[in-house]
Amino acid sequence: MTLQLGDTAPDFTQDSTEGPISFHAALGDSWGVLFSHPKDFTPVCTTELGAAAKLKPEFDKRNVKIFGLSVDGLSDHAGWAKDIAETQGVELNFPLIADADRTVADLYGMIHPKADNTLTVRSVFIIGPDKKVKLTLTYPASTGRNFDEILRVIDSLQLTAQHKLATPADWTRGMDCIVVPAVTTEDAKRMFDNVMEIKPYLRYAKAPSGS
Ligand code: BEZ
Repeated sequence: MTLQLGDTAPDFTQDSTEGPISFHAALGDSWGVLFSHPKDFTPVCTTELGAAAKLKPEFDKRNVKIFGLSVDGLSDHAGWAKDIAETQGVELNFPLIADADRTVADLYGMIHPKADNTLTVRSVFIIGPDKKVKLTLTYPASTGRNFDEILRVIDSLQLTAQHKLATPADWTRGMDCIVVPAVTTEDAKRMFDNVMEIKPYLRYAKAPSGS
């Protein structure tokens, strides 16, 4: 079954490079990102894990815990972690789940048999503090993901969880936001600074400071 936005992220207990993970307990009250890799000792995945490790401080700032996953065992993960440190110039600084029995891959639908029968695709799940799925992404094995984009979506999700705002195309933190249709322009002017009505349905506003 495909996981959809708003579904509860399935809980699981599985080994990882940082010891056994009980997913919901490990998330606690944080946001989470769970992302899968087709296989250990593969080139694109190696660069992705390096990129995610370099951005770990940015995830920490946003109260987001990150978890990688591949359907290989812990001893492979340990050897691969050494290669990641050597080739990417950064230590693996978050858990890499060893999903050799595919418990998690099956729960999250990370194996797409028409793409590959055994390897996981590059799935990304962003999970809110309420344990609900907030975003899903599916990339093919041959395309490395853009982790800045994942951070950008987290910024948008965290902003829109707090304010009656949405974010326009290519938005990044600090840029003007969109007033959601349910809010009148009159109310928006009471709630936000710099409200601009381009069309009755297209209103921009400045995000409250600190968000
Ligand atoms: C990679 O991570 O480099 C990769 C994995 C599976 C298929 C193709 C590329």
